[in-house]
Formats: sequence, C-alpha cells, structure tokens
Amino acid sequence: MANKHLDRVYQASGNSEMREIYDEWAEHYDDDVVGNGYLTPSRLAKTLARFVPDRDTPILDYGCGTGLSGQALADAGFTTIDGADLSEGMLKRARETNVYRKLQHVDPDNSLNAQLGEYPVFTAVGVISKGAAPPFVYDDLLGLMQPGALLAFSLNDLSLEDPDYSSLVPGSVEAGKVKILCEEYGPHLAKYGDNSGSSVVVIERLG
Ligand SMILES: C[S@@+](CC[C@H](N)C(=O)[O-])C[C@H]1O[C@@H](n2cnc3c(N)ncnc32)[C@H](O)[C@@H]1O
Repeated sequence: MANKHLDRVYQASGNSEMREIYDEWAEHYDDDVVGNGYLTPSRLAKTLARFVPDRDTPILDYGCGTGLSGQALADAGFTTIDGADLSEGMLKRARETNVYRKLQHVDPDNSLNAQLGEYPVFTAVGVISKGAAPPFVYDDLLGLMQPGALLAFSLNDLSLEDPDYSSLVPGSVEAGKVKILCEEYGPHLAKYGDNSGSSVVVIERLG
C-alpha cells in the first residue's frame, strides 16, 4: 500500500531531516504503519522474551517512536520499559500511551548520555534501518552497553540489501564485540511492497 510518509522517509537522510519527517508524521504514524501490516514490534518482543525470563528487567526502547514497540514489549509481559527518541513529536505520542516508565529526548548529533549504558536490555525496533537512523547508531549503542547486556533490533529489507547496514552484525561478531543469540527473518510491513520483511536479531555484548 503506497503511503506519503513511508515513501518519503525511505528517501530521507541525516538526523535533522529524519527529525523533521517524524515530527510531522507523529499524528498519523500508528495508522499508517499498522495499516501496512507492521509486525516487527510483536515479533521482536516475543523473540526477546525467550532470552529474558525476568520480565521486570529494565529495557531501553531506543527509537521508541509513538510507543508501538513499547506496547509490544508490554504485551509480551515486560513491565519496566523506558524510551528514547530524536523526535519530540513521536515522544509526545509515546507519553500518551502510559507504557513507558521514563522517556527522554536524544540528540544523535552529540554523544549519547552515558547513563543509557546502565540498561541490561536494549531494543531498537525499526530504528537502525533505512528510513530511520544511520548505521553508526549501532556502534554507538554497542559502545554504551555493558558486557552481558542484550540488544534486540531489526533490519528491514531495504537495509538487508545495503552493505552499510547488513555488514554491521557480522563486523561486530568478527571484532569480538558481540555474539548472536538469534536471527529470524519474517514479516515487517507486510503490505508495503519493497520493504515487507525484516530480520530480528538478538545479540549479547561481550566484554
Ligand atoms: C520507524 S520508527 C520506529 C518507532 C518504534 N520503535 C516502532 O517500532 O514503531 C523510527 C524511529 O526512530 C527514531 N530515530 C531515527 N533516527 C534516530 C536516532 N539517530 N536516534 C534516535 N532515534 C532515532 C525516529 O524519530 C522514529 O521515531
């Protein structure tokens, strides 16, 4: 199903353009992505639950957007979910969900707040991908994570076809920074042409 904002966001680049698009999109984002069969949040939350038996474990939902990813984590039984995003417009919607314990604005043009590194579990649903954050955000998150911390994130079809994104996990495994706990391909925006699938990856930060 074609969509003005979805079509536009995949052509965008740079943090300020992304912020502008997501601020403008915030009001209609949920309807647009749910209408296009957005299944990655529930797939990722259920996958993560297999590796995190204590559902009270604090999670940082990085790039939380309007809160669809946090809601999916809550639906999977997680109780302690904080969120961070670069778009104030998206954060405003996330606040209204009451799913998050805390929400914070991040400025990815500056280094991420070191306190974010205290989380044992990170999620980034639809974030480290074409149409959202640039590839270096993956390394920024790994740089924050403590040994043993988990990151569950998704790579959409457009990113799996782009070596700048698709090399991220293999490169970090080769560098001894992480080990892969699980990688599963499935539906993403099931009704949206060229970007209908995604991989959900769970990795553990090594010391
Ligand atoms: C496709 S949306 C996904 C939102 C939510 N996780 C979901 O599953 O619905 C991508 C989100 O990432 C945010 N974003 C993009 N680049 C970012 C960055 N560098 N740092 C933090 N958030 C970013 C956008 O503002 C947007 O809310």
